[in-house]
Amino acid sequence: MLRGIFRTKNLDDILASAQEEGHALKRTLGPINITLLGIGAIIGAGIFATVGTAAAGDASRPGAGPSLMVSFVITAVVCAFTALCYAEMAAMVPISGSAYTYSYATLGELVAWIIGWDLMLEYAIGNVAVAISWANYFRSFMHDAFGINIPDWLATDFRTARKIPGLLENAPHIFGYPIVFNLLAFGIVALLTIVLVLGIKESAEFNAVMVGVKIIVLLFFIGALFYFVSPSKMESNWHPFQPMGWGGTLAGAAVVFFAYIGFDAVSTVAEETKNPARDLPIGIIASLVICTVFYVVVAAVFTGAMPYGELVKRLATEQAEPLTMALNHVAPQARWASAVVAFGSVVAHTAVLLVFQLGQPRIFFSMARDGLLPPVFAKVHPKFKTPHVTTILTGVIVGGFAAVMSIDEMVDLTNIGTLFAFVLVCVGIIILRYKEPNRKRPFRVPFGPWILPMLGAVSCVFLMYYLPPSSWWRFVAWLLLGLAVYLSYSYSKSEIGKKIGRSSITAPWLMLMALGSFLLAIGLLTIPHDAGLKDLIAQVRSGFAAAKQAFVGTIFIVAGIIASGVSAVVGLMQRNKTATD
Ligand code: ALA
Repeated sequence: MLRGIFRTKNLDDILASAQEEGHALKRTLGPINITLLGIGAIIGAGIFATVGTAAAGDASRPGAGPSLMVSFVITAVVCAFTALCYAEMAAMVPISGSAYTYSYATLGELVAWIIGWDLMLEYAIGNVAVAISWANYFRSFMHDAFGINIPDWLATDFRTARKIPGLLENAPHIFGYPIVFNLLAFGIVALLTIVLVLGIKESAEFNAVMVGVKIIVLLFFIGALFYFVSPSKMESNWHPFQPMGWGGTLAGAAVVFFAYIGFDAVSTVAEETKNPARDLPIGIIASLVICTVFYVVVAAVFTGAMPYGELVKRLATEQAEPLTMALNHVAPQARWASAVVAFGSVVAHTAVLLVFQLGQPRIFFSMARDGLLPPVFAKVHPKFKTPHVTTILTGVIVGGFAAVMSIDEMVDLTNIGTLFAFVLVCVGIIILRYKEPNRKRPFRVPFGPWILPMLGAVSCVFLMYYLPPSSWWRFVAWLLLGLAVYLSYSYSKSEIGKKIGRSSITAPWLMLMALGSFLLAIGLLTIPHDAGLKDLIAQVRSGFAAAKQAFVGTIFIVAGIIASGVSAVVGLMQRNKTATD
């Protein structure tokens, strides 16, 4: 019925298509650039914004307390398994598409499409979250350093604004509607998009400066706390080490996962690396190790400065700026010190934004080169040699969402999408070792094809399991939307599809199946995400007036199932007809 959807792409073809005229990127990056890009992607909102809530916990999740340093080590180990797999893949297939390209070579076209679509959650949606957090810190920095107050209505989304008393009332109104949007978040994304269109070399240098600043600021933070807090005081604050037991330590590990996302992003610049076989493994592993050291030390001094009992008393908004909170706690007189850390935080966020805005267009670019997205996405700028169309498209999507979305929803979705991509990369390593045992592997995951990749896949699934149900619903809906695009466009336009004789015109039954997928996705996004199946059925039975959301969502789901079922039957009948003709 669907022909060749598990057809894999030959690795030699993948490598050859990257060299085609007009589709080749400029090779300018060395191992230091790559390591710096990795650090640029990793150290950001995670360390500057999530350590407070991870250590303190909240109503639904226990806190790690001083054992936050162990949480960071646990997550680093989970990421290290995957980092080794990424290093093997990136050295063997030094092509810009990252996990998307690897899965095309190992698991076939449909899985590659799913992964490419899924990576948008890590790169684009992750950056929406970082841009929103950037806006918060930038506002605080302008206030603390220069006394400039940027109005709330230009730095918040509508739903968050509704929770802040007086904000909507004080915003300007047009036709009676309050105007509230995150202009700051949109502005930083727009600025970085311009930098990225101008050129990768220039962007890498800009990144190196920002990485330098954030490392200095983290060192400054560590030094300041050692200066203001005596070793004996720190030691006493580290007791009890696990105030909420292992449950708190593990929940903390799940929260700080966001802080590690990014080591994999460097694999997207493989085609712009001078010696990818050597430089990519060095860059991926070195950046992960360096960041882990920083994170563990920051967690140690942070929990050494803020006793757990004091931390849990603080408001969630204070916990969202944990490093400046710790400095203010131990040295309230040294406001300048917290202004320095706020500045570092703005820079760190900017560097993360830069690397992810760099990575997403290169994934779109690879997908377009394979025919799964329109050919215009694979264009390289004649003068700057950058994928300018996809860079601008990414800027518009990320900037647009950042202007109107709330950060929490974006972070959960990013985590689940990223973990899923990690699982497929680990599984891909095992498959490829068996499928192509003789292929040249400049770097190999140690201890054979099974042990570390399996540990990587299992530990990522373990973390996914602990993510909230709402992010699971959204994740499944996102994949269904992707399936709708695949069935209605990519299936018939794929380069591999052309080679194996698929028609380039999408059949009506495929269009119907795509519609079914789309309706299912809309239904899943609409139903209330906190209700179990039984609750949902009860709500629907109570009628439209009593449970609008559940009612409308269920109608979409049922319509989606009917459309998919009918299209599958028509597709099967056509296949049988072709077979008998
Ligand atoms: N690891 C990145 C951050 O912390 C996503 O912001």
